[in-house]
Amino acid sequence: MMPSAITRFFSRPISMLLTLFLVGGAVFPVYSQKIIIPVYSKSNALILQVEDSKDLNMAYFGEKLSDENEYKNISRVYRPAEDYSSMLASAYTASGTRNLAEPAISVTHADGNNGLHLLYESHKQEKIDENVSLTTIVLKDPVYPFWVTLYYKAYVNEDVIEQWSSIRHKEKKSVTLGKFASANLLMRGSAYWLRQYHGDWAREMQPEESRLTHGIKVLDSKLGTRANLFQPPLFMVSLDKPATEDEGKVLFASLSWTGNFRVDLEVDHQDNLRIIAGVSNFASAYSLKPGEEFSTPAFLYTLSNSGKGLASRNLHDWARNYKLVDGKGTRLTLLNNWEATYFDFNESKLSALLKDTKKLGVDLFLLDDGWFANKYPRNDDHAGLGDWQENKQKLPNGISYLVKEADANGVKFGIWIEPEMVNPKSELYEKHPDWVIRQPGRDEHYFRNQLVLDLSNPKVQDFVFGIVDGLLSKNPELAYIKWDCNAVIYNAHSSYLQNQSHLYIEYVRGLYKVLQRIRAKYASIPMMLCSGGGGRVDYGALQYFTEYWPSDNTDPLERIFMQWEYSYFFPAIASANHVTDWGKQPVKFRTDVAMMGKLGFDIVISKLDPKDLTFCQQAVKTYDSVKDIIWQGDQYRLTNPLTDDVASVFYLDKAKSAGVIFNYLVNNRYGAGSAVPIRLKGLDPSKKYRLEEINLYPGTRSALNPGTIYTSDFLMKIGFNPAVKSGRNSVVVKITEVR
Ligand code: GLA
Repeated sequence: MMPSAITRFFSRPISMLLTLFLVGGAVFPVYSQKIIIPVYSKSNALILQVEDSKDLNMAYFGEKLSDENEYKNISRVYRPAEDYSSMLASAYTASGTRNLAEPAISVTHADGNNGLHLLYESHKQEKIDENVSLTTIVLKDPVYPFWVTLYYKAYVNEDVIEQWSSIRHKEKKSVTLGKFASANLLMRGSAYWLRQYHGDWAREMQPEESRLTHGIKVLDSKLGTRANLFQPPLFMVSLDKPATEDEGKVLFASLSWTGNFRVDLEVDHQDNLRIIAGVSNFASAYSLKPGEEFSTPAFLYTLSNSGKGLASRNLHDWARNYKLVDGKGTRLTLLNNWEATYFDFNESKLSALLKDTKKLGVDLFLLDDGWFANKYPRNDDHAGLGDWQENKQKLPNGISYLVKEADANGVKFGIWIEPEMVNPKSELYEKHPDWVIRQPGRDEHYFRNQLVLDLSNPKVQDFVFGIVDGLLSKNPELAYIKWDCNAVIYNAHSSYLQNQSHLYIEYVRGLYKVLQRIRAKYASIPMMLCSGGGGRVDYGALQYFTEYWPSDNTDPLERIFMQWEYSYFFPAIASANHVTDWGKQPVKFRTDVAMMGKLGFDIVISKLDPKDLTFCQQAVKTYDSVKDIIWQGDQYRLTNPLTDDVASVFYLDKAKSAGVIFNYLVNNRYGAGSAVPIRLKGLDPSKKYRLEEINLYPGTRSALNPGTIYTSDFLMKIGFNPAVKSGRNSVVVKITEVR
């Protein structure tokens, strides 16, 4: 709820007496006229303050005060406006005049001048609905007709803020933007711990947590398309001390942008944490015409005052309520043929796999790479990308036949595409070399033997849209698309663009235009966001997708760790997890891990031993009975694979009446296992529960007694022991309210 009286109160100037105030041994004046602009969410307040000088500063971001009248006193406890330190607090740091801190924006004006100073001009606060408010603040340079508008969209119940900016001017000619951040935050703590991620193919989401020291730490990508391959724009910062799952102040943040990003995290000389996040300015100085608006993508963040678990649950709710396509809906379980066949298949093999799909009991068969191209058939990853016609040898009757076959078998049909890419060995490359991002007069460099199409070109956008539109209009029953992106942008040059510095930005804008067209016509078709694994998982893209592919690494032991980290930022419903032959664990372990998200299989069903097959068939049914809890419930991390022998993850439905607890042995040393009980979290204090082991392998017995009734008090204070140990290394437990 927005406190409307308070908002009205704060939105007008507050008169204060000119006085002297002592801070840190120095005497500073305190000023008379202040406008305070509060952005509230359920637990937090982000307080912006217009100084007498009209500079806009970020005065506070943290837990809400119980008396909102006290925000006006903030300037009494921090150093006030005239001091150099006030520049550090700028809500959007300009450069080239007085402010010498790392800028959010830098500009070369039409006349060649590099100075920018942004002063408050106006603001408004609107209620978009019961839960969402939008604060808009207009800043203007006093000398040039140059404006920046800051937007703060607050999702109250989820405690999430999306912040972005837009830049425009009315100068005589174009200006050049050297930096153009989405957001500029200031946080205050006695120390800051950054949790960041790095990775590579099959090694996504490797965490590192360290204390930030003075100076600037930059998280960024310059890879263009598969932008997050080495580093995603996902991070968290704990304030004062490292936050744990349930305690401590921690900010979770990310940039919603499917391309190059840059996040500056600066601990300044006064020990503030300044965060400046936006599209990377690497090779991207942007020439902005008079009257044109440069809109930045949203930087999204949530601040938890009770540890990482709450921050992640807030993000999950937000993603399901507002971002993911069909976030509150359902998903299709599937059988994929990638690892079962790779490129080596034909119609009869696929017909058999369709039967296996039915036999397994999943909803859909997903045909992966290798189904297209004729002059240069897609029989391996050296040829064919770009030629999206069915390969006549492999599929003489085309996709339509397979879609009908699937229907006849009582399953749905989905298909893999990688529409942004081209192999030099393709008809598309021969016909349209000008559609390809490549440097004229230089050797081409390939990533997975392929090049990237130039999506800044509207004709290429039409082509890419046409691939999806063609497939779906010919086959209206086609039920699923896996959209892959396996290359970075090498040889960055567009033969379409006048200004090469616009390529990285216009590429992403072009991609979004295509995805918007697809969603305008096919609003609900499930689409998986894949990038040679998880090379491109971000909320900018996910607003067009139902799910993402975390990694080609499906070794379940690795996945426990990876899914754990991904799950801080993305809800389980969006995580496509497949049972494959990676890893040494038995099929039960692999299936249990894949069930912590959206379940799929990529194994040869016909080669499974009969007990394994029975287990998998039963597991699909079990999953169908609990998947809503996993997809729509609250996730609690109980024991941590990084520090404990057992990883334990709990999903509890919103009514707190049913849940599923997944427990895995992640340490193979002698005697490792669940020595002490695992305490549950989040249960309703007034309820009683029963525990029952589910997803048992045929012929094995549960170690739990389903007859025992526990109070939530017992389960949260003492806990239960899933008896995880060698030989019982994966245990799934259903918890049900006893009425
Ligand atoms: C990427 C994907 C895989 C598979 C292959 C096909 O590596 O991540 O899942 O689709 O491409 O070439």
